[in-house]
Amino acid sequence: MHIVVTHTEPELALAWQAALEKRLPQACVSLDTQLATAPRDSTDIANVSIGVGWQPPADFFVRHPALRGFFSAAAGVEHVLNNPHLPADLTIVRLEDAGMGLQMVEYCLHAVFRLRARTSDYEQQQRDRVWRELTPLAKTSLRIGVLGLGVLGRQVAQAFAGLGYSVSGFSRTPQSITGVDCFYGDAQLEQFLSRSNVLILLAPLTAHTRAMMNAARLNHLPRGAYLINVGRGGLLDDTAVLAALNSGQLSGASLDVFNGEPLAGTHRYWTHPNVRVTPHVSAITEVEPSADQLAVKIAAWVAGETISGIVDRTRGY
Ligand code: NAP
Ligand code: GLV
Repeated sequence: MHIVVTHTEPELALAWQAALEKRLPQACVSLDTQLATAPRDSTDIANVSIGVGWQPPADFFVRHPALRGFFSAAAGVEHVLNNPHLPADLTIVRLEDAGMGLQMVEYCLHAVFRLRARTSDYEQQQRDRVWRELTPLAKTSLRIGVLGLGVLGRQVAQAFAGLGYSVSGFSRTPQSITGVDCFYGDAQLEQFLSRSNVLILLAPLTAHTRAMMNAARLNHLPRGAYLINVGRGGLLDDTAVLAALNSGQLSGASLDVFNGEPLAGTHRYWTHPNVRVTPHVSAITEVEPSADQLAVKIAAWVAGETISGIVDRTRGY
């Protein structure tokens, strides 16, 4: 078996190479940057060639025509699906949790706890040397809506429900989660939005979800709602989000992912007083647990076994 590792960060490419070599000693693991092409495939499954990584360059699949599968070092796979030379028959497999669920839960809880505890007001008071107790926001005024109830979204929804928040969730197909009011499908989207004082976006970027949070949909949120985007920047119509922030329809936003990363230095999000920006870190890929998962999946897939996390290319995730 031959594995070609590709990554935008050279240090992470090396870390993935070492981690996969350790777990799959029978495989020859190369860096994309060391190879002209992956070795030719043969009918022998043991000689199968596989890509692993994040954001394969545009010509990656042209240079490695023998690849049979690509294992994403991320939960989201639009970085693979958008590749202009992606072969139609290539199997794509994604990461499932691998330590990201807990990180995502902590990021979202932190954003909401800041709101509830009025942390930014206290930060201003400290700058002004003001000693004044403020009333925390009532939990009942922070009804949580989680858009995307997959591996990560359902953990976030369950965490808030477990803390006594009122939680709704929205997905493409019907889902059921204890303690969470679940909605699904375009016909129920407005109803879901209308009860989300805090909207958490955790859906994949697909043809259907691109710019889904447009002006009309933002207007279905209760006035003064707070937006947390930890899914993908492309879920937002940024012009509409900024207009909603300026009009007060949105009281603020915690944004971790953007239309165009790194976020351009001139972007208004950096300086908007009610926006908090983080650089796509709400749930990072930790190489060791992720390599554990992908090595098991690779070995099973090569052996012809059924594995989870295979991307359905027609639905886009
Ligand atoms: P997942 O298990 O595939 O779950 C995706 C969820 O989104 C499912 O509930 C799915 O509905 C729902 N969905 C898909 N299309 C939808 C639509 N048109 N309308 C409403 N809901 C829709 O994915 P995951 O592992 O939870 O990850 C979710 C996303 O988080 C990833 O795709 C990635 O973009 C993002 N992410 C970001 C970071 C970060 O650091 N910021 C880290 C990891 C992941 P069904 O249940 O009906 O299929
Ligand atoms: C990170 O953004 C991921 O999709 O895992």
